[in-house]
Amino acid sequence: MSCRRYRRPAPDAGLPREDDDDRRRPPVFGEQAFPQGNEGLPADITMRVAARPPAVHETGVIMTAPQPVRIGVVGAGLMGRELAAVCGRWSQLVDHPVLPEVVAVADPQPAARDWFRRVASVQTFADDWRPLLDDDSIDVLYLAVPHHLHEDLYIAAADAGKDYLAEKPFGIDATAADRIAAAISGSDSFVRVSSEFPFFPGALRAYAYAASGALGDILEVRSQFAHSSDLDRSKPINWKRRVETCGRIGVMGDLGLHVAHVPLRLGYRPATVYAMLDNVVTQRPGADGSLVDCDTWDNALLACRVPSTTDEPRRFSMLWET
Ligand SMILES: NC(=O)c1ccc[n+]([C@@H]2O[C@H](COP(=O)([O-])OP(=O)(O)OC[C@H]3O[C@@H](n4cnc5c(N)ncnc54)[C@H](O)[C@@H]3O)[C@@H](O)[C@H]2O)c1
Repeated sequence: MSCRRYRRPAPDAGLPREDDDDRRRPPVFGEQAFPQGNEGLPADITMRVAARPPAVHETGVIMTAPQPVRIGVVGAGLMGRELAAVCGRWSQLVDHPVLPEVVAVADPQPAARDWFRRVASVQTFADDWRPLLDDDSIDVLYLAVPHHLHEDLYIAAADAGKDYLAEKPFGIDATAADRIAAAISGSDSFVRVSSEFPFFPGALRAYAYAASGALGDILEVRSQFAHSSDLDRSKPINWKRRVETCGRIGVMGDLGLHVAHVPLRLGYRPATVYAMLDNVVTQRPGADGSLVDCDTWDNALLACRVPSTTDEPRRFSMLWET
């Protein structure tokens, strides 16, 4: 059996599919591509399997033999665990061509690594990311570390030629983001940002409706992620609530992409931005319970002007709220 997991995808690969009608069409077997069949799978990711008879699920759906994809997780925190949990439920998907398997984890914190001992497929436990980048048996990396580490890690992974899914915001600031983008462009790596919002059913519908042009001239756009977690004053300080490790971007680095992604995908690119930023929580409990400074922006409203494509030279208003 052979499996070519990733052929170099087209620039728009990774976009949610709007037409899912052919999801249950049987895949093509043999040394042929079967790019159809999986919601959210980039249309030109090409799977190849040796010819063999397909199994038939009780629902009548023809099932392919899923190809294992070996995943290394860097950063065994909230999102690293989330990824492992998602992979654990993957077999629920009928007729999916791949079977992700978390085989390695890297995190300097022993307790964080130890959580992964419950995942039977994990064989490598490392306190540093280097062994995972150098391990040719790992197909894909998932990178989920604090923002101040994005630049070094994402560039190192691209330099190592690894394909990876990495967490937003791809750098602690614009300089880091530019360096990461340059390293990826100059590499053979297939890289995607972990941004789930455009895949939610509601967001898919909103996107499809707006993209269809049915809205006519756009009056204004509002996009918000009304997530109040960091406005809870009793939440202890952590890397997300410090400029040094989260970035001056503050809440916009945490939630901003969720708000911006669908409008940007629709082509609503701000020509001007006026930011209203609020440092609501200035102190939080530290490790010993005493209050320490919390210097990140906790609430942000970006008032933007976007050139109208249907009603030039108008610029419509767009409000991004995090
Ligand atoms: N897509 C989303 O919805 C979503 C949600 C939450 C967080 N995130 C993003 O995920 C990333 C991680 O956030 P989190 O909530 O999982 O943080 P977390 O603090 O829960 O986990 C981060 C982990 O990285 C580890 N780490 C630190 N230095 C490391 C190193 N040198 N090598 C390997 N691991 C190291 C830490 O020990 C910790 O276990 C951030 O970029 C964050 O913005 C995305």
